Amino acid sequence: MIAPSILSADFARLADELAAVAGADWVHVDVMDAHFVPNLTLGLPVVEALLKVTDIPMDCHLMIEDPERWAIGYAEAGAYNVTVHAEAVSDPIRLAGDLRAAGAKAGLSIKPGTPLEPWVDVLKHYDTLLVMSVEPGFGGQSFIPDVLGKVRTARELVDTGHLNVVVEIDGGINSETIELAAEAGVDCFVAGSAVYNADDPGKAISALRDRAAH
Ligand code: DX5
Ligand code: ZN
Repeated sequence: MIAPSILSADFARLADELAAVAGADWVHVDVMDAHFVPNLTLGLPVVEALLKVTDIPMDCHLMIEDPERWAIGYAEAGAYNVTVHAEAVSDPIRLAGDLRAAGAKAGLSIKPGTPLEPWVDVLKHYDTLLVMSVEPGFGGQSFIPDVLGKVRTARELVDTGHLNVVVEIDGGINSETIELAAEAGVDCFVAGSAVYNADDPGKAISALRDRAAH
């Protein structure tokens, strides 16, 4: 699956930019609060407006402090998947249950330096695991290959445990790095600049999909 990140889109034309990626599996929306990460993007009112103009399942990546306070609002608004950061959540199992009860898939994300081991038991309560392959905060950064070890471990845990968890990767995905990530076992690839900086975002999505299937 390919999930274009609108962080690299033209924020003055977001409805058009969503239409430009109509062939995507999910659309990835980066919510940043200038506390958990040093950048500030958009929040629930913008997500609510975007949900009205697209049928693409929305994958909301909350790079925020105190996700317990805000995440449910995104689920109630109709986001398909709501991902919170392991480093910021206080009661991950309870929050996953609350997100599901509010009608969304529950996602857990780990930063490049965060080990997977402490989260292994929590994983079965989630629907997606988002492995960050750049430090969260900005688009257009270079892929950190060290995270591929965690991806392989996650793939193994999901397969051997028969867990219903989508392994997702986010950051620095392009036509080269997507092959490495696919080989390590990723199911869903977030791509911001590789899609939106292309002349034809729709073609860029198909090209990435082909490379992942190599
Ligand atoms: C970074 C965001 C990413 C970002 C990826 O903190 O979580 O979703 O948009 O952008 P690229 O694909 O350009 O690295
Ligand atoms: Zn993201």
